[in-house]
Amino acid sequence: MTGVTTPQGPVERVPVLEVENISVAYAAARGAVRAVNNVSFTLHKGEALALIGESGSGKTTLALALIRMLVRAAKVTEGRVRYVKNGAAQDVLGLSEREIRRFRWSECAMVFQGAQNAFNPVLRLSEQFSDTARAHGKGDRAWVKRRTLELFKLVRLDPERVYNAYPHELSGGMKQRALLALGVLLDPQVVILDEPTTALDILTQRAIIDVLAEMQDRLGFSIIFISHDLALAAEMADRVATMYAGEIIETGTVDDIFYEPLHPYTLGLLRSVPRLSGSQDLISIPGSPPDLISPPPGCKFHPRCPFASERCRSEAPPLEDFGAGHLAACWHTDRVVEARQGLWSDGAVVTRG
Ligand SMILES: Nc1ncnc2c1ncn2[C@@H]1O[C@H](COP(=O)(O)OP(=O)(O)OP(=O)(O)O)[C@@H](O)[C@H]1O
Ligand code: SF4
Ligand SMILES: [Mg+2]
Repeated sequence: MTGVTTPQGPVERVPVLEVENISVAYAAARGAVRAVNNVSFTLHKGEALALIGESGSGKTTLALALIRMLVRAAKVTEGRVRYVKNGAAQDVLGLSEREIRRFRWSECAMVFQGAQNAFNPVLRLSEQFSDTARAHGKGDRAWVKRRTLELFKLVRLDPERVYNAYPHELSGGMKQRALLALGVLLDPQVVILDEPTTALDILTQRAIIDVLAEMQDRLGFSIIFISHDLALAAEMADRVATMYAGEIIETGTVDDIFYEPLHPYTLGLLRSVPRLSGSQDLISIPGSPPDLISPPPGCKFHPRCPFASERCRSEAPPLEDFGAGHLAACWHTDRVVEARQGLWSDGAVVTRG
């Protein structure tokens, strides 16, 4: 348990998910695709952690490993996931099939990428909510209806209309709100959202983020928020973890990551976001992500890194604490500190707070 100090005094941060050295590999014809490597982090109660990184960096694989929904070809090769509730810890990877099924909705829910098709087109939403509850031992129809209507109200949907609707009667944004409601139906402590707003227009995205923040405020769950959209991640999260080639290469508070990045890759991601002022050219990170079957030696980012030295080419940097929980895996963070000067001088793309 760690402590933070607020104007009201120290507040204890209670862990709900402790991920220790998780690695995941997919069996492919050419060899093992090491999609997640030695990832560790702790998610605290009521906290929102954003996972950011380019396509293929392992965000979805990591999330699926946490709730044991990996495809058959994938295996967790090492590590541990501890889920803590009311002071008691469970070893998620050691749960039986029956226990993990209950765990998935009741303790840790996941809203997937491309959620538009998640609802069964031939069933009214009322039936889908009661089926989900029944499958997890909550057969009391009156309770399910009450809870569903309450949640629809919370996600700003017209409760009665949506309760009796078929999925095709709802817009994309409405379906996404209904899916958020379904995610928290059984009051999980952790909600994992994988690209929850992709495929929605920008106004709908913003509305969903507002709804999510309000739900979290009211229900107190913790969030793992996976997104390509750095501005949304900054708005939604308390802490951010940057993934590259299956590793967390930097983690810290939103301010640490967006205003004082220490890793060249995080800096590259920030520079590839369009500025509001439009006064600086968009700089994309040169090169492409490494082959995860035979990644480069040393720091995996070295073939793309402007600061790479001999040491980087042979020795992998450890994830080191640079103070107050701001961790980065880089031999030359001093170069990043110099290079980031002026990063936000022409108008920030993300807003603080
Ligand atoms: N079924 C599979 N078989 C082999 N490799 C896979 C499989 N699924 C994913 N991978 C590989 O695992 C790596 C991580 O993929 P993952 O989908 O977790 O990335 P991601 O960060 O979620 O990407 P995106 O932002 O595009 O959703 C990628 O290199 C991908 O090619
Ligand atoms: S360790 Fe070297 S190659 Fe890796 S990110 Fe840092 S400077 Fe770049
Ligand atoms: Mg993904």
